[in-house]
Amino acid sequence: LPVPSVQAMVAATGGADVPPRYLRPAEAVAGIVDGEGEAQIPIIDYRRLLLELDRRGEESARLHRACQEWGFFQLINHSVPHDVVEAMKANIQQFFQLPAETKKRFAQERGQLEGYGQLFVVSEDQKLDWADMLYLYTQPPESRNTKFWPDQPVNFRSTLDRYSGAVKEIADSLLAMLAENLGLKQEVIADRCVGGVQSVRMNYYPPCAQADKVVGFSPHSDADLLTLVLQVNHVQGLQIKRNGSWFPVRPVEGALIVNIGDIFEIFTNGRYRSIEHRAVVDPKEERLSAAAFHSPNIHSTIGPLKELTADEDEAYKTVDHENFMRLFFATKLEGKSFLDRMKLK
Ligand code: SIN
Ligand code: FE2
Repeated sequence: LPVPSVQAMVAATGGADVPPRYLRPAEAVAGIVDGEGEAQIPIIDYRRLLLELDRRGEESARLHRACQEWGFFQLINHSVPHDVVEAMKANIQQFFQLPAETKKRFAQERGQLEGYGQLFVVSEDQKLDWADMLYLYTQPPESRNTKFWPDQPVNFRSTLDRYSGAVKEIADSLLAMLAENLGLKQEVIADRCVGGVQSVRMNYYPPCAQADKVVGFSPHSDADLLTLVLQVNHVQGLQIKRNGSWFPVRPVEGALIVNIGDIFEIFTNGRYRSIEHRAVVDPKEERLSAAAFHSPNIHSTIGPLKELTADEDEAYKTVDHENFMRLFFATKLEGKSFLDRMKLK
């Protein structure tokens, strides 16, 4: 059965009553939020990385440590033009402000993820996330299903086209740098990303009067190689699992939040790990974000890279891309349970 739009529900009821399907047991929501004072996830300077391309230096070393110790970092001085970022933010906000009937023209179809709707509803008794989303395939361009691409606001399509191309370029170049940081030739990963798949998920989290009893985005790790997240408005909500606690990400103005996904963990036989994260909801203000996921092209197998496992056991299975996706969609998104099914032993 289709899940109602949370945004429409809040608009209709004023949001005071939260249906039981959204209410989580206290232990599921609480967890200790440990900000380590004003501690922040590492900030990496993209311009410095590019300057170091030929002879890797201090910033590349910081990038390596960020991937090893955090699995998350914020990328500043990146190459997505400022006007494209601002246009993307405005278009996403304007899309979610459209009347429900207009947005429904781009609704998901039964059993499919792409379009306007919700994520992963696998059973009637499943607890639901306090969020709506618009999920689109963006790269390669021939993978686009334009019927799901909003034609309002009028610049939405052209803006997403420019944004997705610019973000894909950064993802590709970061992946090449990560490969080199692991002692690989950059082609080892880059070749698998020629014609690589990118999808963008735009998230809308309405405010919730019982914000401490719902979850905007359930704890999960991302299935892809590398995710780049744009914080669309000023409301915080992303938290990452760190030393058993939830650690809030405080977005830096203009930065992209980057994180390692499951496929990268598998490729590198666990040298870099994907980190569990979630999104919490604000009691008073809506929150918007946009995550761009990057995966290898559909011809690549998903398994530990032979270049890294000459002298060690493979810790993960090797499956073809299609079976990887099938396994992913068949597994309830819960913490790192999907990745566990890719583990050997
Ligand atoms: C996610 O993509 O896991 C959540 C991103 C966010 O809302 O910050
Ligand atoms: Fe995520």
